Parts: sequence; structure tokens; C-alpha cells
Amino acid sequence: MRKLLLLFFAGWCAATGTLPAQELLPRPRRAVFGKGTVRCNAVRRDCMPAETGAGARLLFSELFLDSIPEKGCPVLHLSVFSADSPEAYRLRITPDSVVVRAASGEGFLRAAQTLRQLSDGKRLPCCTIEDSPAYAWRGAMLDVSRHFFPLSFLKRQIDALSRFKINRLHLHLTDAAGWRIEIKSRPKLTEQAAWRPQASWKAWWNGRRDYCTRETPGAYGGFYTREELKELVRYASLRGIVIIPEIEMPGHSEEVTAVYPELSCTHRPHGEADFCPGNEATFAFVEEVLQEVMEIFPSEYIHVGGDEAEKKAWPSCPLCQRRKEELDLASTDDLQAWMMRRVGDFLLARGRKMIGWDEITADSLSGNTVVMVWRGEERAAEAVRRGHDVILAPGSHCYLDSYQDAPHTQPEAIGGLLPLERVYSYRPGETLDAAGQRHVLGVQGNLWTEYIATEEHAEYMLYPRMLAIAETGWTGNRKGTYADFRKRAQAATDRLHRELGIRPFDLRKETGPRPESLTPLHHKAVGAKVSYRHTFSPYYPAAAEATLTDGLRGGWNHGDGRWQGFVGKEGLDVLIDLKQRQKISRVEVSFMQSAGAEIFMPAVLTFYTSDDGENFTPIGLFRKEPEKTDRPVYEQRIWKGKSRTRYLRVQALPGKQGGWIFADEIAVF
Ligand code: ACM
Ligand code: ZN
Repeated sequence: MRKLLLLFFAGWCAATGTLPAQELLPRPRRAVFGKGTVRCNAVRRDCMPAETGAGARLLFSELFLDSIPEKGCPVLHLSVFSADSPEAYRLRITPDSVVVRAASGEGFLRAAQTLRQLSDGKRLPCCTIEDSPAYAWRGAMLDVSRHFFPLSFLKRQIDALSRFKINRLHLHLTDAAGWRIEIKSRPKLTEQAAWRPQASWKAWWNGRRDYCTRETPGAYGGFYTREELKELVRYASLRGIVIIPEIEMPGHSEEVTAVYPELSCTHRPHGEADFCPGNEATFAFVEEVLQEVMEIFPSEYIHVGGDEAEKKAWPSCPLCQRRKEELDLASTDDLQAWMMRRVGDFLLARGRKMIGWDEITADSLSGNTVVMVWRGEERAAEAVRRGHDVILAPGSHCYLDSYQDAPHTQPEAIGGLLPLERVYSYRPGETLDAAGQRHVLGVQGNLWTEYIATEEHAEYMLYPRMLAIAETGWTGNRKGTYADFRKRAQAATDRLHRELGIRPFDLRKETGPRPESLTPLHHKAVGAKVSYRHTFSPYYPAAAEATLTDGLRGGWNHGDGRWQGFVGKEGLDVLIDLKQRQKISRVEVSFMQSAGAEIFMPAVLTFYTSDDGENFTPIGLFRKEPEKTDRPVYEQRIWKGKSRTRYLRVQALPGKQGGWIFADEIAVF
């Protein structure tokens, strides 16, 4: 039977290539649509097997009438089958019956979620579907520290995400900007470190970074009580989502050391990001907090951060140094690794496993720790080499706080450019070998909220990009085309808006790539040799010496490989050899500014001609101190005139604020 079914599917796939208009997202492993439909309110529910699970029962009862089957009416049959994944399911819809087979309660829930997508509220199309996920972990992370989002918002996201079979919601509950979880044994955390005088993270970060109490006039912040979080865990569980709490350590902990200064090396009550691992009080704190976290969250995994610890005070802290000597550790990195191992062992002794950001990777880490990769897949390779499972959330494809379209058309974001197409292009684990790929638990989209203060803005950043994560996680590397996905994502976000009031980014309004980047520019200097009087940064070489005269202009993002970056007071200073003395009447240099990334327009731009490449005559000078802008700016600086020259020298110097200069082309006409 199974073989026959597979042959049938193979034939269909070859014949049609894509799904018909049913718009399922994520795309199922195999689907065949037949003729005809069945009316949902005509279907009667047969008895449900014990495995069905509360979440699936709820959804089935929303979809179908709950009554004894009558003679002749279509019936919903549920049964269990064995499969590799507990989320596997099969559906067969005919005019007479809706047959659902699933490997477990999770599988029934995934089947019910597919039925909901198939239904227009009245009817289901006749079809046969065989489905299971590529990855067991399909996550979404919300940063509720930088800005606080109420429980109702989290529930709405659970409603939305579960429709696309996302099955993990990672809450970044603690960070410098605010502690967001009630801890009974440490009430000061929520009395004094969950509130701040400024609502905007940017204003707070650029200011004094103080905390305050809830009663302070104008106080911004909030936290979730234990009961609220337990309710959220139940709510999510019914919808097939496990909540993963994250408690940051040893860095990103300024809010903790503000109220418990004794936990940092210096005991300064302000601005200390790191815990002191030399102090036993740190472990007493961490263990008390994690104990309560485990009481609230039943998840197999607990996330303990571990990223970007500065460890600035550790080398001069007597307690840290004593610890290092006692343990015979070579470096402060080893001291962090020891701390993470100790915390991991604490969790393990209580039946839980630790997840940390990829900075926690170290030889001493226990094997069952899971590494969440954010800096790039090369970090995944390091972790799997040491035997760890990994969750892939590289910033290059999974950081949804980046701009999703031309930055000047978007609300201010932290920087970078990550349009839907790029999120969808992610092929998880592609850079790993087969053994490494077996360690990939799944993928995750992360929404950091430094620049995201409102629920509406958060949804705008999440959708539709989280749908691309959902499809990548479910289908792995057997994805279809982006054009097909985009159509389904458009339909799915429209439906999210209609049915749940979600406010997504409207793909119909997408600007798309920077027009200048799409067509090569023809000019006199294309292919000309460029000598660097001050060289470009090795971090942003673009196409090295060819960049500025290759006729190719950059896109919206300074890191796209077309923009060349210069840092230092010498700025950009290049000599272009036009091969022979010739007339020039116009020179265009395009620069970009992205103040968040410390990239600015040049303050002084000088054009020189020269016949020998050594003696220069200035022909044009522009002076303008760059103004800070919230969003990236792209500008051409143009010299016009009449001149004859063999060499052209272009010098662009930074203004008072220093930073970077980025250029993509010097066009000569
Ligand atoms: C991170 O983005 N620092 C995990
Ligand atoms: Zn210390």
C-alpha cells in the first residue's frame, strides 16, 4: 500500500511540479488534490483515540460538528500509525470521509492545523496528504526585555505561529533593559529592575541606563507573574508549542547587578554587564532563579544565554583570579566555559538540558548541551565537532530585527537587510558534512526588540518572515521556488490579518532591491586599475581592487559584497589609471550612510587630476559634515566640469564623528 502510494505521488510530482492553489504553508511533503469538496458542518466526528491529545481535540471540534455519525453523512476517522517523527500525519479527504492518521497527539495536532489551512470555513477540498517535518525544532524567539509585550500579545503570536507548525517559542526574558519574570525568592528583580524611566530602548540606552520602580511617574516596563507564565505554557502546549525560557548569564546582566551589586566583580551598582564567576553568591543566585524557572516551565531545555560576555572585570577580580588558579584555567574564556558547565550540570541533575548561544562552545561543555548558533554556520561546525546538537539561527538569515525592505521605506531598524527572499533562501546545515547535519535539531527566527516598541511593529517584523522560517524548518532542503512560497506567504498573511488581526508587512508594497544594483553601469573607468593610497578594510573588501571600477553598484546593505568599507582618518583615497590622457566631464561616486553601523557620508571629498600619478591638481572639493540619520541614506557626490587627465584621484575623509566610509563605484564620464 505504502509503495503504491509513493508511486502515485511520484507520478503526480513529475506531472505537475507544484501544489494547486490550496496555499498550504508549510508545504507538505506530498499532496495530491482531487476533484470535489466536503462540507465541514456535514462531517460527524467518530470517537477519537486516546492519543489524539487536547490540542487536536480542540481544533477538530472547532472544525467539525460534535455529534454521533448519522447514516450517509461524511465521518471523521482518526487512527494511529507508527512513524519516525511524532509529528507525522496522513490525511485523506473524500466526499464521504476525512481520514486522519497520526503518529501521536502532536501528529494529530499538525493534521488538524493542515485541515484548518485547507478549510475556507465551510468546505475542505478532496485530497491526500502525507506529511512530516524535516526538523524537530522550528522556533521563534521574542525578546521581551528590550521592550515589554503583554501576555495577550504572546498568546496572539502563539495562535499565529502554531498555524504554521512552529513548535518552540523562546522567550528572551532577561537582559540589561529589563528583567521580565517574577522570581519569588528575589523580588527586587521585578520591583526595581523591570522598570526604567524611558519607554524607548534607544533613549534609555543612549541615556543613563537607569532603572526605577513601577510607581515612578512615567515608568516603563513590566514582567510576567508565575501564574501568567504557567497559563502561557498551557496555552502554548494546547497549540503544539513548547515555551523555552532564557535567563542570560554571565553577560547581558546589568539589570541584575544593578539590584544585586555584590554579584559583579566590582560591586558597582551601575553598568556592570557580567556576573562574577569567582563568587559563590553568583551560583546561589543563578540556581535559585533556575529552580523557580523550572517550576514554571516544564520544557526539556532551559536557555542560559552565554553570548557576548565582556568579562572586562574578570582579569582584575581577586575572586575570579583565585577561581582560575584553583581550577588551573588558562583564560577568562575557560572561566566562562567552567561556569556554563557548572550551570549545565545543575540543570542536568534536575532532569533538564541546557541551551546556550554559540559562545558557550568549549571542550569542557557537557555533551548534552545544545548550542544555538547565531554568528554563522562555522560556529555550528565547531559545536558538532565536539558532539553537540545545534539549533541554527544565523544572523545572516534568521535575525528578523534587520530591515525587510529598502531601509528608507521602513521604520527604523537595528541595521542589516533581510528581505523575505533571503530568509527563504536559507538552506540549514548546507555547510556541514553529513555527520554534522545529523546534529541539527532545527532552525529558529529571532526577533530582538531594541528598535521595536509596539505590538504592531513586532508583528510587522515577524510576518511574513517567520513563515519562511516555518517552511524551512518543516521542509528542510526540499523547498520549492521562492515565487511559489511568496504567493502562499501573501495569502497566509492576508488570512492572519483577517482572522487574528495580525498586522504583517504587506508584500504588495515591497520595494525590492536597490534599482542601481540591478543593471551594470557603463563608464570610462570600467575595468581601470585602482591603486589604494589607503587600503580598504579586510572586513569589507567587496571585490577588492576591482570594486570601485567594476560597473556594479551595491544594494541596500553595506555587507552585500558590493560596497567597499574604509575605516580610519585617511578614509578612502584611491588613484584610478585611465590608461591614457583623455577628456573627463563628470565623476560620480556613490556613498552610503548607516549611522547605526557607524557608516557616514564623507565630510570632505576632493577630486584631483594628474598626468604622472604623483603630482596632483585639485579640480573639485565638497565639504559637508554628515548629519546623523535614523535610516540609511544613499547619495551620489558628483563633480562636473571640463578636464583632461590620465589619472584621477578621489579622496573622501570622515567627519568629526569618525566611523566608516562605504563606496560602491567611481564612475567617470
Ligand atoms: C545574540 O544575538 N547576541 C545572541
Ligand atoms: Zn569576579
